[in-house]
Amino acid sequence: MTDRLRSRYLGLDLASPLVASPSPLTGSLDSLLRLEDAGVGAVVLPSLFEEEVEGEPLLLLERMEAGAGVVGEAAEYFPDVDLDHLGLDRHLVLVQEAASRLSVPVVASLNGTSPGGWVRYARELVDAGARALELNMYDVAADPARSSADVEGAYLTLVAEVCRSVDVPVAVKLSPYVTSLAHFAREVVGAGAAGLVLFNRFYQPDLDLVTLDVTARLELSRRGELRLPLRWIAILRPQLTSTSLALTSGVASGADVAKGLLAGADVVMSTSELLRSGPGRARGLLDELLAWMDEGEYADVDELRGSVAQHAASDPTAYERAQYQRVLASWHG
Ligand SMILES: Cc1cc2nc3c(=O)[nH]c(=O)nc-3n(C[C@H](O)[C@H](O)[C@H](O)COP(=O)(O)O)c2cc1C
Repeated sequence: MTDRLRSRYLGLDLASPLVASPSPLTGSLDSLLRLEDAGVGAVVLPSLFEEEVEGEPLLLLERMEAGAGVVGEAAEYFPDVDLDHLGLDRHLVLVQEAASRLSVPVVASLNGTSPGGWVRYARELVDAGARALELNMYDVAADPARSSADVEGAYLTLVAEVCRSVDVPVAVKLSPYVTSLAHFAREVVGAGAAGLVLFNRFYQPDLDLVTLDVTARLELSRRGELRLPLRWIAILRPQLTSTSLALTSGVASGADVAKGLLAGADVVMSTSELLRSGPGRARGLLDELLAWMDEGEYADVDELRGSVAQHAASDPTAYERAQYQRVLASWHG
């Protein structure tokens, strides 16, 4: 790997600014090794979901019941199963194996449901060898009794508690659905986060018109989705000068990686493109980035970073209203 791509994220030295974000591709040792071979600078493992850990013993019990009719009898076939730690153990083994077999930093991701759960599982992931943590704040705030201040306050308390409990850097994967995002981002950093990941991608349920069931079908991202995080990276970069910023959503080419770095991201993450084309596609993204850098005569990625953000600092509206007007004016039928 060429030195031209060297990057830093969450205080970690990375060989490249491309990070594999959480997905099934980062959930097996085999594909993690292939991602590393293809040049990613770091990997973020799939989130450990507290509800999954807590719910898995129930699933097992259901399976046991189905197989043997009675839980008590069935349990005899599984005498050594520790129901409380089944899902957790499997996840921790992945973190341990990835941390010991990969030379790139392994970041563990967590989505908790209870305040105690966030802290407990964060510690377990770090003890298993994670070099950093990513808190996956994926939540649909649908309770009309909770104001935005209540929801955000609860998140800030969690971030502060997790950051106090572990001795590795913590990044927070944010939702774009926050009224005053710049304010909330600053508060999250104030609570102890060393980095922000923009943005969490919310999967919208659909309706099946035949069965009238709610269906959950995951669709991979499309190119245009890059623009939302791109704008916010550019807005936040001059405001949060010592915070690591990662861009995620819609990164499908080396040019997209270049755009993220230009806007001020420390690293650019990819999932959908790697799922579509396989882990080896990471090498293609980096080769395309290098070709683009050659054309623009950029010596290294440090030279790229922040060029657009600096421009935004002198004209903060460039990413706000001015762009809106320009987009409206650009429609030609
Ligand atoms: C199949 C799949 C599984 C994912 N699992 C997780 C996860 O466990 N935790 C998480 O924070 N994000 C998860 N994501 C979101 C991705 O990490 C990423 O942020 C999102 O897909 C946007 O990036 P992309 O446009 O490159 O796909 C998942 C995405 C996909 C497609």
